[in-house]
Amino acid sequence: MDEIMEFAHDNDLLVLEDSAQAHGASINGIKAGAWGHASGFSFYPGKNLGALGDAGAITTNDEQLYTILKVLRNYGSAVKYENSYAGYNSRLDEIQAAMLCVKLPFLNEEINIRREIAKEFILKIENPLIKLPKYNDENEHVWHLFVIRTDKRTELKDFLLKNGVQTLVHYPIPPHKQKAYLKYNHLSMPITEKIHQEVLSLPMDPNLTKNDIDKIIKLVNEFHL
Ligand SMILES: Cc1ncc(COP(=O)(O)O)c(C=O)c1O
Repeated sequence: MDEIMEFAHDNDLLVLEDSAQAHGASINGIKAGAWGHASGFSFYPGKNLGALGDAGAITTNDEQLYTILKVLRNYGSAVKYENSYAGYNSRLDEIQAAMLCVKLPFLNEEINIRREIAKEFILKIENPLIKLPKYNDENEHVWHLFVIRTDKRTELKDFLLKNGVQTLVHYPIPPHKQKAYLKYNHLSMPITEKIHQEVLSLPMDPNLTKNDIDKIIKLVNEFHL
């Protein structure tokens, strides 16, 4: 992030953080959502801090941006029935806000459980076919997902599923290869494309039991061709 911020500063660019999976994460004591000019958080139910339905928030330290964003989310209107901008109906639903208020005090506790699970996976998964993510105690990762890499992804996914462990791929297609971005489809980004071919998310959730965790570790270690 230091390098990104420096590059943006030198080139007069805005930095918009995607913090959808990063509630509570930090680098050198600076939280996700506090690095860039603005940042988007997702409260989709499956996220580390999830509502009952769709919800999200933007953070910014820029007063002018804050004022405009507040107006944009409310039909572009600061004064009732007067529209200064062509805005949206993007207010946070009150039921979702209430739910988030109840869940917020548990966020750090749940993140700590995720960290313990991640540590356990990293300490105990040992399989030459699998690359593990790196654990760094200083940069506080919050493990929304636990993403491993293997060039035998389909085989591993099928093996785990056959043994009762569901995994997901986040994400199978890189943005520049999506149909929605036809004009970028010709680009070649070999590192990005390789990552998208190899990533697999193991189960990660504060509600995993010790048995679940042990079973996942055992199966991943048993996997072979
Ligand atoms: C990295 C990332 N960015 C953005 C989003 C979109 O969030 P939302 O569904 O709340 O719009 C997600 C959700 O899956 C995500 O994981």
